[in-house]
Order: sequence, then structure tokens, then C-alpha cells
Amino acid sequence: MPSIRTALIGCGKVGQIHAAALRELPESEFVAVCDRDAARAGAFAERYGVQPFTDVADMIRSAKPQAIVVCTPHPLHAEAVILAAQAGVSALVEKPLAASLADCDAMLTASRNAGAKLAVISQRRLYEPVQRMKTAIDAGKIGTPMLGVFSMFSWRDQAYYQSDPWRGKWATEGGGVLVNQSPHQLDLLLWFMGEIDEITGCWANLNHPYIEVEDTALAMIRFKSGGLGSIVTSLSQKPGIYTKVHIHGSNGASVGVETDRGATFIAGVSEIAEPPRNDIWTIPGEEGLLAVFRDQDRKQFRAVNATNHYHALQIQDFLQAVRDDRPPLVTGDDGRAVVAMFTAIYRSQNERRAIKFPFEA
Ligand SMILES: NC(=O)c1ccc[n+]([C@@H]2O[C@H](COP(=O)([O-])OP(=O)(O)OC[C@H]3O[C@@H](n4cnc5c(N)ncnc54)[C@H](O)[C@@H]3O)[C@@H](O)[C@H]2O)c1
Repeated sequence: MPSIRTALIGCGKVGQIHAAALRELPESEFVAVCDRDAARAGAFAERYGVQPFTDVADMIRSAKPQAIVVCTPHPLHAEAVILAAQAGVSALVEKPLAASLADCDAMLTASRNAGAKLAVISQRRLYEPVQRMKTAIDAGKIGTPMLGVFSMFSWRDQAYYQSDPWRGKWATEGGGVLVNQSPHQLDLLLWFMGEIDEITGCWANLNHPYIEVEDTALAMIRFKSGGLGSIVTSLSQKPGIYTKVHIHGSNGASVGVETDRGATFIAGVSEIAEPPRNDIWTIPGEEGLLAVFRDQDRKQFRAVNATNHYHALQIQDFLQAVRDDRPPLVTGDDGRAVVAMFTAIYRSQNERRAIKFPFEA
């Protein structure tokens, strides 16, 4: 099978993880990078042996990629995807898909009209403990998933927010912990629990006076299945404690994952320090498996570079989806569903009411 001509937009922190995968994967012929900062584009180009550009349209015209990965700040994702789609080029976008539903809809429409694939990164779906939960839930081992709980007690300091001028501001980041750190677990909650009926939410900035956006948000969810959900997500605990997703079923059994121990890692700055692990598993007859899972997960963690490995798996899935003309593991619509979730939480606080789904963008 011929490989796919690939290019990267946004030569920043997470861009390093994508570039390494695009260089290594057999499905990828890595041809170009683009950053509006010429020095960054040049440094990446030299390191990965590809052509540098500072303008997306120019790169698409000249380097003729068939697929791009988008690693720019969230409010800039739409511009790159739409330009690519207009040239028939498929896109894998870093999370969140965009900072607004209007941007998501424009990206989805442009991609559909062009017959191009649109996918969004949610690499924690590929963590072994998360895959194990999905398999058990789909096999009916907890009955119907009835109660989904996402809790994050993490930390970001002033240096993090000052590391790039776009961070911590409504105009250039689109939000705080909900938009930047939580999309992974919001996506897992939806993946496990299904579609949302309504959300009530609120947010605050508890201890980051030097940023505009929220560092903490809470929400109550009613799912279309009749199940319930709860979210407490925060960057206000120093040191960070954990990030978990727990799913409780109609037969009383529960499965759970600690996706992150301590503070969540910062791509390009810190590494994943400890293996993700199942922390609850009360499926009848399987109670003794937690120790076995933990042993397997520790071995896997030692065998791979976890910070890069799960991104590479998802990038590979995306390239195979383009090659084989099938949907990617995490679609543009999945990305939109996460953006709808955080949009509803903001709207719920502004309007002091529950937000019924679907709602106007
Ligand atoms: N999946 C994950 O675990 C993960 C981790 C970190 C970041 N991210 C996501 O990746 C995206 C980027 O985050 P980051 O930390 O790498 O940011 P960053 O600031 O380190 O890098 C962004 C890069 O984009 C470039 N850029 C900005 N506007 C551009 C434009 N119009 N055209 C071309 N280049 C442009 C900047 O010059 C910069 O080099 C964000 O959406 C973030 O949420 C995801």
C-alpha cells in the first residue's frame, strides 16, 4: 500500500509528539511543516527532514499533503482545517476540535463537502485500562452504564500560563480547564455513557488570579439513556492529585480508570510519570482481576514511551482511515460533542438554567 503524504501545522509543544509519529509510521510520508513563526518551522523542518512553510495555504498548494495534523491553539484549528478541506485534504486535529460550536460546524461542513476525513485527538481512549472498560461495558458486564463520574484534581502554575501568550485568555484559548485539560475525559464520559439529554453546570476561578478563564468547573448531566453524570474538574490542587473516570452500571457493578496520577502531563514539557490504571473493577466474578491488570499495565508502561505511544496509535488509525476510506476512531462529530458539553456548561452558568440538548450553536 502506498503511504500518505502528511504535513504538520503548529510546530510547538505537542507538535513534537506528532512530528515524531509522522516520521516513524509506515503509513506516513512526512513532507512539510508550517508555523507562522519561521524559526520554529525551520527548526522542525531541519530536524525531520521536511519542507518548512509559514502559510497554510501555501503549504497545501506547494507540498500537496493528503493529510494534515493540526497542532495550533484551539481557536485557530478551524482556519487550517477549512483550507485543507477545500483542497480535499483530510485533517486530524488536536483536542479540543475547536473553541466554539460555530467553528466545529464550519469544519464538519467543509470536510463533508470535500469528502475529506476529520478526526480529533483523544489519545486516552487508547490507554489499555480505558479500552478494557469499553470492552466490558460493550459486553454488557455492568448492565446499562447508569452513573458516570469524571473527577480531576490537577495543577497548573503561573509559569505554564505565561509560557505562551494565548493561554489563560477567553479570546485566544476559548476557556480554561474545561476547554484545555478536560476534553480527554469529557470524551471518555460520552464514549462510555452515550448522548446527553441535559447539563447544568457552573465554574469559577479559585486560585489563579493571573488568568481570565476558569480553573474549576462542576456539572450535573442527565443522559438520553436515563443515566446520570457528574463532573468536578479543577486545576487548583497543588500538588495535583489525580484524574479519574468511573462508570457504575445498572447491575450494581462498577469499572474505573485513573487516567492520570498527580498533575496531568504537559506535552513537550513533562512526561507521563506513572501508568494509567484501573482503580475500580467490581464486575461479578472479576473482582480479583485488578491486580492482574495493574501488573500488565506496569509492564506495558515500561515497554513504551507512554507520552508518545498513544498519540502515535491514534495518528496511525487516522492515516489508515484515510487510506482505507473508513471512519477514524475518534471522528469530528465526537469532537463536536465535547465542544457542545463545555459550551453547555458555560451557557448554564450564564443563563442560570439546565441546557437541553441539542441546542443552537
Ligand atoms: N492531546 C494532548 O495531550 C495535547 C497536549 C498538549 C496540547 N494539545 C493541544 O494542541 C494544541 C497546541 O498546543 P501546544 O501546547 O502545542 O501549543 P504551543 O503554543 O506550544 O504551539 C502552537 C504552535 O502553533 C503555532 N501557530 C499559531 N498560529 C498559527 C498559524 N495560524 N499557523 C501556523 N502556526 C501557528 C505557534 O507559533 C506555535 O508554534 C492545542 O489545541 C492544545 O489543546 C493537546
